Amino acid sequence: MNPIKLSYYLGRNFKYSGKVIGRSLLSECKSWRSKANDLCCDRALGISTVGGSEAVGLIGAEADGIKYLGQDYASLDIMIEHLKLNAHDVFLDLGCGKGRVICRVGQEVIKKAIGVELRHDLVEIAKKNALLLKGRQSEVEVVRGDACEYDFKEVTVVFMYEPFGWRTLRRVLAGIEDSLTTNPRSVRVLFSRTERFGVVLDMCDWLIPVGQIGQSGIWEWRTGEI
Ligand SMILES: C[S@@+](CC[C@H](N)C(=O)[O-])C[C@H]1O[C@@H](n2cnc3c(N)ncnc32)[C@H](O)[C@@H]1O
Repeated sequence: MNPIKLSYYLGRNFKYSGKVIGRSLLSECKSWRSKANDLCCDRALGISTVGGSEAVGLIGAEADGIKYLGQDYASLDIMIEHLKLNAHDVFLDLGCGKGRVICRVGQEVIKKAIGVELRHDLVEIAKKNALLLKGRQSEVEVVRGDACEYDFKEVTVVFMYEPFGWRTLRRVLAGIEDSLTTNPRSVRVLFSRTERFGVVLDMCDWLIPVGQIGQSGIWEWRTGEI
């Protein structure tokens, strides 16, 4: 039997040169279950965010932007439960795609949920979702722009689901650090899928690593208390 097919039945992904080229039946099942849960949550929120988008090549000023894929709702719920957001929080999703994260966060009582997205087509979808959102508790805003040019001065929580590579991430982190001079405050930085770029956040001496939030795959860093 060909080794890729064999790995399917043995419950282990088949890797070649570090890349998964054949997924096991077990991971297929987990992925279907997660997708089914995402569809149910979308329906409960009255929005439509499931499914990727066509890749348009690497985007952004640093040409390292990655294509759309939504953070799964199960992990989002673990993160939201942990964050204990309050009425002063301004939550920012950098690379918000179709707006899943800001819509879910918009169901919490906060000051504002903002999504920044570079692709016009995704911005339109995110804006529509923000209008359709059921159970809204807070303002949800979608801004078209490049993450590395955003002005962070109002933001208290920055979320990223591996939207871009280390060049943009480095500029984003410099922007957040600068904003602390203009407006000294506590900021929490959340990054999902840290395998490749977690080290860039670890290298910021103004950020304290907090660790993974439960089993969500989302990791947290925060500035020291002001
Ligand atoms: C992996 S998706 C995450 C989507 C969303 N955060 C979620 O979890 O539902 C990454 C998104 O970042 C966007 N993106 C990539 N580079 C960007 C940049 N420099 N500025 C703004 N958005 C960017 C992509 O178009 C894509 O929609």
